[in-house]
Amino acid sequence: MPPDPSTITVAAIDPAQWQAYKHLCLRMLREEPQAFGSSVEIEEAMTDTIWQARVSNPLAYALGASVPDGNLVGMMVCVTTNRPKQRHIGTVASAYVAPEYRHQHLGARLLDGIIAYGQALKLHKLNLSVVVDQQAAVALYTSRGFATYGTEPAALCVDGKYYTEWHMAKLLTP
Ligand SMILES: CC(C)(COP(=O)(O)OP(=O)(O)OC[C@H]1O[C@@H](n2cnc3c(N)ncnc32)[C@H](O)[C@@H]1OP(=O)(O)O)[C@@H](O)C(=O)NCCC(=O)NCCS
Repeated sequence: MPPDPSTITVAAIDPAQWQAYKHLCLRMLREEPQAFGSSVEIEEAMTDTIWQARVSNPLAYALGASVPDGNLVGMMVCVTTNRPKQRHIGTVASAYVAPEYRHQHLGARLLDGIIAYGQALKLHKLNLSVVVDQQAAVALYTSRGFATYGTEPAALCVDGKYYTEWHMAKLLTP
């Protein structure tokens, strides 16, 4: 039985949590391969040094949902760039809540935190790409004002099956 959602903390993932982050990323890719561009086989081969660097990357702000024992049960990342022509854009990535913790507004709390981060950075907009079959994710993004600006057939190919993605954006400033 999942704990009371009010006991789950949503906060920036601390670099000291890199092992919990690695564990959740690999679980996410193993259990929902059709929802993400990366592959568990590639990420399982990454060294611990790379995992540690990922949670310390200032251009990849990672929010985590932690249960009272410190374990991570959800996450969402906002990727930014120093490239002058694109530093007004944040890209939402790695949106995931462990199945046993879903429907408790953790996804919404994580996305609200990412939007607040983008607003604090004065980003102009947030972009993301989502496989159209991921109905919960599409509903979550739509509920927070993301709108589809493009459709990409066959954006992913997983086990020989093609998946269509919607590219969505939310303006943070006029
Ligand atoms: C998308 C995901 C992160 C949502 O996590 P969650 O914690 O269950 O979401 P929430 O409880 O915060 O729900 C927020 C909103 O999403 C929608 N939603 C959630 N689950 C849904 C479902 N199964 N079907 C339809 N809408 C759903 C609802 O609009 C909900 O708003 P409500 O509470 O007013 O009904 C989670 O389902 C997940 O990890 N999915 C698999 C990975 C994935 O698809 N990631 C996206 C990659 S782009």
